[in-house]
Amino acid sequence: MSADKRIGIAGLGTVGSQVAARLLSGAVPGAVLTAVSARDASRDRGVDLSGQRFVSNPQDLASADDVDVVVELMGGEGGVALDLVQAALKAGKPVVTANKAMLAAHADSLSEASCGSPRVPLAFEAAVAGGIPVIKAVREGMAGNEISRLSGILNGTCNYILSRMEVAKLGFEEALKEAQDKGFAEADPFLDVSGTDAAQKLTILSALAFDVAPDMAHVSLTGIEQISAQDISFADGFDSVIRLVAMAEHRGAQGVFHQVVPMLVKKNTTLAQVSNELNALKIEAEPVGSIFLQGPGAGGGATASAVLGDISDIVQGFGRALFRAPTSGMKESATQNAPDSEYYVRLALADKPGSMAKATQILAENGVSIEEVVQRSSQAGDSFLPVVFITHHCEISALRAAVGALEAQKDICNEVLALPVFTEEM
Ligand code: NDP
Ligand code: HSE
Repeated sequence: MSADKRIGIAGLGTVGSQVAARLLSGAVPGAVLTAVSARDASRDRGVDLSGQRFVSNPQDLASADDVDVVVELMGGEGGVALDLVQAALKAGKPVVTANKAMLAAHADSLSEASCGSPRVPLAFEAAVAGGIPVIKAVREGMAGNEISRLSGILNGTCNYILSRMEVAKLGFEEALKEAQDKGFAEADPFLDVSGTDAAQKLTILSALAFDVAPDMAHVSLTGIEQISAQDISFADGFDSVIRLVAMAEHRGAQGVFHQVVPMLVKKNTTLAQVSNELNALKIEAEPVGSIFLQGPGAGGGATASAVLGDISDIVQGFGRALFRAPTSGMKESATQNAPDSEYYVRLALADKPGSMAKATQILAENGVSIEEVVQRSSQAGDSFLPVVFITHHCEISALRAAVGALEAQKDICNEVLALPVFTEEM
């Protein structure tokens, strides 16, 4: 019988402390926790780590004689996390990480180190969609398929905020605070609310599905910072909710289109049912058709589940390199236009004669046709009124031109926000 694999964990926060606790309770046969690292050696982690060696400098885990597998759960795009992972790979030690920021930003050097010769496992199931095994689904389960599109919800914090604004009528900041308290948000929550975290995850999935090197510069990215309680209420009036939707679509010779954007989603769609910190991924492929995966996308338990699965794979000798090949051998990503869509256009319109006529004229002049319009009545003293247009299908270029022209009419309108309308066919 082969000896137990000795595990060293760097990072004992929301995720790391739960991974440590599960390893200590024997959750992964053949894995034994020997060393841990964090900034503060004295902090109570809710788990008895007195039998494990505490290492002050996480990078020492890469060269430690009592560590066979390094588990990086500190986070951060570069710095200590990247130094540790690179050192471990260089030393030939398999690595498990949940760090999508690092993988998306340093896919080139990490894929060189992991996919080169010798190949060194670099496992990252926890980096995308928390506890849902989407990496395994895309890379292994669908290996014989041709994937045409990936779409879904890849950030638990944004989904939690939008759900809580909708159901509990919380303000944005209050909902974000709850997400932070529950351990869903990144150390810097701007990464969540700006859509960056979802985009990082999308580029990682896209590398597996389409063999395209991760490139954040080519993701069309809009966050949820501008979504107000008023938008949630307007959406409700259209029997819809707002969701941050990530989508990567293979467009043949044109390459792959990547987009992360808040969308108006009809309540009777599957996507609208994905609430709180849940994530979901729809994979469209031939010959299988369409697969929809849903589950907890953030939080200590969900993420620990994925990390433990990766540790188990490595212990059993199933560990895989970061990608099939170094990113230098992959296709390049490219900027492309969003698909035609209906749009939700919200603005504050001056409460004076002619402003509605002017706004509709601007839309018409830019080739944007209106399907529905809602104007809320004014409160005493308001000089601008909230108005929403739902447009017919139009090209993104026409929509952008119309929004630009509306924004230029500062005397009659401001606070213009345009969101695509999601349809099940997207
Ligand atoms: P936390 O902030 O809760 O924990 C980070 C841990 O890393 C802490 O224990 C901290 O030590 C330690 N740490 C940070 N910097 C250093 C350093 N320089 N030297 C040593 N230790 C350090 O983060 P999470 O557990 O939430 O996230 C960890 C990783 O998992 C991140 O990459 C995140 O993106 C990813 N992830 C998180 C999910 C979640 O739901 N939370 C879901 C999916 C992925 P100390 O405690 O002493 O300060
Ligand atoms: N902050 C991330 C989220 C953690 O909310 O989805 C899981 O990756």
